[in-house]
Amino acid sequence: VQVIDTVAAWRKALDVERAHDRVVGLVPTMGALHRGHASLIAHAADDCDVVAVTVFVNPLQFGPAEDLAAYPRTLEADLDLAAEHGASLVFAPAVEEMYPRPIATSVSVSGIASRWEGASRPGHFDGVATVVTKLLAQAGACRAYFGEKDYQQLCVIRRLVADLDLPVTVVGCPTVREADGLALSSRNAYLTPDERVLAPGLHRALVAGAAVLGAGGSPDHCRQAMAAVLTGSDPLDVIYAEPVEPDTLEPLAAALLPGASARLLVAARLGRTRLIDNLGVTRACAAG
Ligand code: PAF
Repeated sequence: VQVIDTVAAWRKALDVERAHDRVVGLVPTMGALHRGHASLIAHAADDCDVVAVTVFVNPLQFGPAEDLAAYPRTLEADLDLAAEHGASLVFAPAVEEMYPRPIATSVSVSGIASRWEGASRPGHFDGVATVVTKLLAQAGACRAYFGEKDYQQLCVIRRLVADLDLPVTVVGCPTVREADGLALSSRNAYLTPDERVLAPGLHRALVAGAAVLGAGGSPDHCRQAMAAVLTGSDPLDVIYAEPVEPDTLEPLAAALLPGASARLLVAARLGRTRLIDNLGVTRACAAG
């Protein structure tokens, strides 16, 4: 795998690929790659001629109370994992390369970024939107792969790409889970053994809520079904557990009509770890 650390060399490398009519698959990450990232890289390798991974821990998306310095940095292992799953180019710039001067421009996606994670983590999505806009502008025309695990982030990115006419096709990839349902996340490493036992409760709550909506139940019944699972686990401090419209992320106002879809979002604190998860649901069309 070729490692590049300047914007100019990265642009040139991807331009060369496109000049040979090769479709570029871009996988933006903050490193500390796990099986979830491996699946994004593998999806990109299936669809594209060349897979380019970015590894950059973006200071702009960390709040003052969030520990940027403690974020895991494992570049050597990341390079091995990226190569193993089909990447041939990795962009790993220093902070000074990405932000050579205090940044005066910020990308802010109104509406969709203000709720849920946006409400709990002020400024977070501006930081994500700004760095993703830079990464996509640096990469040029490509297919860009993001996990559905961060569903609100995926919606924010889809919106900024559409609004700013970026020459990018955004591809959302399914969440990778442990056998007991826990969504893979770098943050799972912070869970104590006791917390790890409780963590799959988030997924169980989503499944219970989805069953209600899938059967034509109301948003209130869906909320109750999720709460019944989550309140059973005492140390789980629920931040939100909500059925929402799948594109706008507005709270779902009514039961699903046959064929209609919703997304269930959940966030909870477990000890010092903040976990999020989500699940899509579509109400089946009546048979016949
Ligand atoms: O999902 C992530 O790893 C980050 O938020 C992203 C999209 C790479 C931006 O820093």
